Amino acid sequence: MTDTDPQTSTTPGQGVRDTVQLDGLGTLRRTHAAGSVDAKMVGTEVTVMGWAHAHRDHGGLIFVDLRDRTGIVQVVFDRDDSVETHARAEEIRSEFVVAARGTVRRRAEEDVNPKLPTGEIEVEVVEVRILNGAVPPPFPIEEDAGVDEQIRLRHRIHDLRRPPLQRTLAMRHRVYQSFRAGLVENDFLEIETPMLAKATPEGARDFLVPSRLHSGEFYALPQSPQIMKQLLMISGYERYFQIARCFRDEDLRADRQFEFTQVDLEMSFVGVEEVLQLLEALTRRVCTDAAGIDLGPVFPRMSYDEAMDRFGIDRPDTRIQLELVDLTDLFTASEFRAFRGVVDNGGIVKSLPVHDAQEMSRGDLDRLESFVKKELGAKGLAWIRVTEDGTWQGPIVKFLSDVERAAITERTGARPGTLLFFQADAFEQANAILARLRVDLGLKLGRTDGREWAPLLVIDFPLFEKSDDGSLTYMHMPFVAPLEDDIALLETDPAAVRATHYDVVLNGTELGSGSLRNHRSDVQRRILEVMGYAKHEMEHQFGFLLNALDAGAPPHGGFAFGLDRLVMLLAGADNLRDVIAFPKTQRGQDLLMDSPSPIARDQLDELHLRVRERKTS
Ligand code: AMO
Ligand code: AMP
Repeated sequence: MTDTDPQTSTTPGQGVRDTVQLDGLGTLRRTHAAGSVDAKMVGTEVTVMGWAHAHRDHGGLIFVDLRDRTGIVQVVFDRDDSVETHARAEEIRSEFVVAARGTVRRRAEEDVNPKLPTGEIEVEVVEVRILNGAVPPPFPIEEDAGVDEQIRLRHRIHDLRRPPLQRTLAMRHRVYQSFRAGLVENDFLEIETPMLAKATPEGARDFLVPSRLHSGEFYALPQSPQIMKQLLMISGYERYFQIARCFRDEDLRADRQFEFTQVDLEMSFVGVEEVLQLLEALTRRVCTDAAGIDLGPVFPRMSYDEAMDRFGIDRPDTRIQLELVDLTDLFTASEFRAFRGVVDNGGIVKSLPVHDAQEMSRGDLDRLESFVKKELGAKGLAWIRVTEDGTWQGPIVKFLSDVERAAITERTGARPGTLLFFQADAFEQANAILARLRVDLGLKLGRTDGREWAPLLVIDFPLFEKSDDGSLTYMHMPFVAPLEDDIALLETDPAAVRATHYDVVLNGTELGSGSLRNHRSDVQRRILEVMGYAKHEMEHQFGFLLNALDAGAPPHGGFAFGLDRLVMLLAGADNLRDVIAFPKTQRGQDLLMDSPSPIARDQLDELHLRVRERKTS
């Protein structure tokens, strides 16, 4: 906390109530919202209530900008007001809570404020009441507070009074309403599932809640309602949705919070196609309803393989026109040891060609190389520049044969002015690095197609991925069904099995994901077997689900939208903290309420817990 922080120097309320006498509402009742008073109401008596946004005393003529959720209206105290009213007006300070009754009048020509929707009028006050005082705000309640985010988060009450958060939370509200309406129209039932739940396998760490009644036992807060919604399908509810809070103890980033909101849905008796159509319609509707955004014609679809091949990532921002080119096969017998070695070890070689890149200087290239090495763990950043006279420059040119050069030219379309970037590394790593470069360079060099919104449905993900020890594990979660045509491959070539998994992507952000689930217990068991579960482990961890599948499970599938991420995109924010009323910091703290915080000894005792001595860091 900084010294300039007024809330530390004044106990809330102290110094306000001592000096200012507070009024009750008395007989005053609010008749109008501040933002709704307009020129058509000239001559009408109104009562407005809100916060004193600004106050100015022009030699006895006092102006107060009164702000409420809907906007700001100027209230005026004339010099010839009653002594009492005027005395009260003089006491008003920033953020005092004020009620004013008066008559709407037109402002003098020179006082019209074209920036305010209510700028043509003002309210000439006949009665004013100070409903509460307020300590001076820690920063201006303006569009741009101009202060560090830590201070904004600590003083979230004031921050939430600022227009950007007011707009965003109102939009968030419209997003909820639009989803609800769309789902209800499609016969979905809204059903709540428990927060005190059991671990769900979404791949993150659980938040645990100790049980008082069952010593040494814990509930897990749900990472998602995944298992519960599947149980609801088996129970015959057919179409379920929930605006569900989910909890994941994972490393926080701009697009990840511990606690976030999913619009979670599940449907029975459907195939992939029906779910995708619903998702597209819903996404479209919500963007229009909440933000007036038209997402354009039919959402393009792309397989996971194509997305990885062309863009190096399963959630490409397709507005950026640069694409990757696979060169792995050219280096299987190359003399260039650095690349050949990677290919021999099962890695890949890919290139990002950037045409007409004359503006990239040698210094730019050096900075890029040190960035990808330091920040992204790249082994290096080989590059080739084709000069205006067609010669090739760069650190790896001397290692390449004529045949390799010809093949690279053909594949990448290299021509005078082209810069080629290369990555030779494991599949994931090489793609991740080039995908990042693609976005950074694409934005820097303006290689975008001009669309504001680029929705995309990514389909046909693999069912499994290799874990570090070479064994197969689930790519998304263990209950995803294989494509029907690939079920037989579970026996012969499980790594090649494609999943019914799909993602909705908007501008390079994964908005949500889903799949059809295994409704047959034999297929579910086989998948768990492939992942190395012994029979008893399977029964222990998933017995209740496997038994439920045997109780007459219909084919079913569903999806979960990350609501916070959608609002972040629609609001043009670049951090989830700006779309959540009371978010956690990057370090997982709530600075306003000061959590997490220690708890009392007797509370620990009641929960049968003992805290080990804390390490002093
Ligand atoms: P998944 O784990 O992909 O799927 O989550 C769905 C969506 O939730 C959002 N999301 C997050 N948002 C903010 N902070 C986080 N920490 C966070 N983690 C995820 C993302 C993501 O796309 N049960 C499955 C859904 C299903 O198959 O029906 C699931 O939870 O936008
Ligand atoms: P070296 O022979 O190690 O000096 O590498 C020659 C050039 O290739 C340098 O520009 C390195 O940055 C680059 N380089 C080395 N290894 C890789 C790799 N695995 N992928 C991409 N570029 C690399």
